Amino acid sequence: MKKAISLILCAVMLALVMTGCSQTSNADKPLVWFNRQPSNSSTGELDMTALKFNDSTYYVGFDANQGAQLQGQMVVEYIQSHGAELDRNGDGIIGYVLAIGDIGHNDSIARTRGVREALKTAVEANGATDSSPAGTNLDGSATVVKDGSVEIDGKEFKVRELASQEMKNSAGATWDAGTAGNAIGTWSSSFGEQIDVVVSNNDGMGMAMFNAWAHDNKVPTFGYDANSDAVAAIKDGYGGTISQHADVQAYLTLRVLRNALDGVDIDMGIGTADDAGNVLAETDYKYVASERSYYALNLAVTAENYEDFTDATKTYAPVSKQLDSEKHETKKVWLDIYNAADNFLSSTYQPLLQKYDDILNLEVDYIGGDGQTEANITNRLGNPDQYDAFAINMVKTDNASSYTSILGQ
Ligand code: BGC
Ligand code: CA
Repeated sequence: MKKAISLILCAVMLALVMTGCSQTSNADKPLVWFNRQPSNSSTGELDMTALKFNDSTYYVGFDANQGAQLQGQMVVEYIQSHGAELDRNGDGIIGYVLAIGDIGHNDSIARTRGVREALKTAVEANGATDSSPAGTNLDGSATVVKDGSVEIDGKEFKVRELASQEMKNSAGATWDAGTAGNAIGTWSSSFGEQIDVVVSNNDGMGMAMFNAWAHDNKVPTFGYDANSDAVAAIKDGYGGTISQHADVQAYLTLRVLRNALDGVDIDMGIGTADDAGNVLAETDYKYVASERSYYALNLAVTAENYEDFTDATKTYAPVSKQLDSEKHETKKVWLDIYNAADNFLSSTYQPLLQKYDDILNLEVDYIGGDGQTEANITNRLGNPDQYDAFAINMVKTDNASSYTSILGQ
């Protein structure tokens, strides 16, 4: 009897030891950074320590340069095809204002550069196009931009960046739509008749400017993200936007975690069809192994094609097939959105994530930050042991270690 009890005890202890051993440490769990790529906010240099935190760490975003070029080209094509009537005050200058999202965010920097390069208002600084805000530049004397030019119906027009500023509110939140709405109010009341075009680093700020002023004054406004409200406004005069293929990004964000948790090749359901038939095409994304980053490719959304983009929260059909829950058992994921008030992330990206989490059998806890401090979010990562994987959207791109230090190492 005694022997039997001690045998049972031994077996229980062995089981305990074994589960103890097989429990993965938080530092080894799959981790995906998304939307804000770990990088130096002054130089843009990628933070490879964060991107290689462990063997199952990736970044998911979109191709910022390809998208920025598309945005610039879209604005130029609109100007060229809308003739001289665009020059509202007939001064021979196409004046535009620019809303900048976050001066330390690579995507925002790329978009400012893309627009300036396309409109030929770009100035070089330290080997690249200057992306600094110009402040106001009514007389064209700013040093961070110069007067550009565009040909309309065989006639040469000057192009001037009349004003640009980073749309950061007093509490520190960037890409702030409210700030952009106020800025267009200030700009238009002092030089409204000179503004022929409004350009924004995103739709949240673009729509705020459109609704506050540009719509009533019939001034075309260009944004980025293809949020549903912006796409719907194209028929009312919003000039156009860029889809950063959030339907592909949201999928990839959760898919890389699913693959790592299943212990399968990272390309499964991405470049290689999975057991349900999910697979992406080459034109949807690119993977840069040296950066451990997946980048979705962008598409221009204009009056010509906007009807194909009316629902920004629709999952992408080629990757919308349900995974079998026996083969891919439910796992728990902690995921944060840096700012619960960010238009793109809250109205487009998160609803997509919430559809894909069902498809991929992931139970995701969504944490919404205040867009100001990392601590507001990391305070809610008090118990990482409860999760199988992590998906992180930082407030500031330099701050990866605020998260990785919690996961260990
Ligand atoms: C989006 C912005 C958004 C930002 C947040 C960008 O990719 O275009 O709308 O505010 O991400 O990081
Ligand atoms: Ca003008």
